[in-house]
Amino acid sequence: MSKMSRTTKMMFLALIAGTLLVAIVLTFIALGVFHPVPWLLVASLLIIPFLLSRSEKQDFVVWKDEYSVGVDSLDDDHRKLLNLINNFQTAVRYRTGKAFEKEALDEVVAYTKYHFEREEKMMLETGYPQYEAHKEIHRAMIEKIDGFLIDYSERGYEALEDISLYLKDWLVNHINGTDQEYSALFKEKGLK
Ligand SMILES: [Fe+2]
Ligand SMILES: [Fe+2]
Repeated sequence: MSKMSRTTKMMFLALIAGTLLVAIVLTFIALGVFHPVPWLLVASLLIIPFLLSRSEKQDFVVWKDEYSVGVDSLDDDHRKLLNLINNFQTAVRYRTGKAFEKEALDEVVAYTKYHFEREEKMMLETGYPQYEAHKEIHRAMIEKIDGFLIDYSERGYEALEDISLYLKDWLVNHINGTDQEYSALFKEKGLK
């Protein structure tokens, strides 16, 4: 269910809750209060808020030690990026309004660009052999984000869920995949 958009999730759960509610009333009328079936339905209905809060927690990105690339400044950047994505997601989820959403999105984008530059500079300094390939991955990501920003200016709020999902998946996979490849060299060169 984590890939479903929040709106779809909410509608899906609302539909189930509505159906359960009708079923509870009907089974109470048909079977009476001493029959277990309507009570089982009541219990199912009470599980819904629990499911909702669990799925929300899953949506947040949490830093894990295995994400570390062994260079403090880059780990700090990566942590900060994940925090900014969580902020952006919160701004989208709670419909905080256009100004907040835009500000949170701009912050992720600006910090991502800043971080890519820092990383690329370190790759050049250390003579990292995959420099060109890694830089190209960064460039393609920035191009994709620029496309999203256009999409946002055209579609408004509706575009934000796609952007938020993309940013989260992309950054977590990149930090935990492609970025790990320079880790040994950077550590060997004593980068901090
Ligand atoms: Fe990175
Ligand atoms: Fe990178």
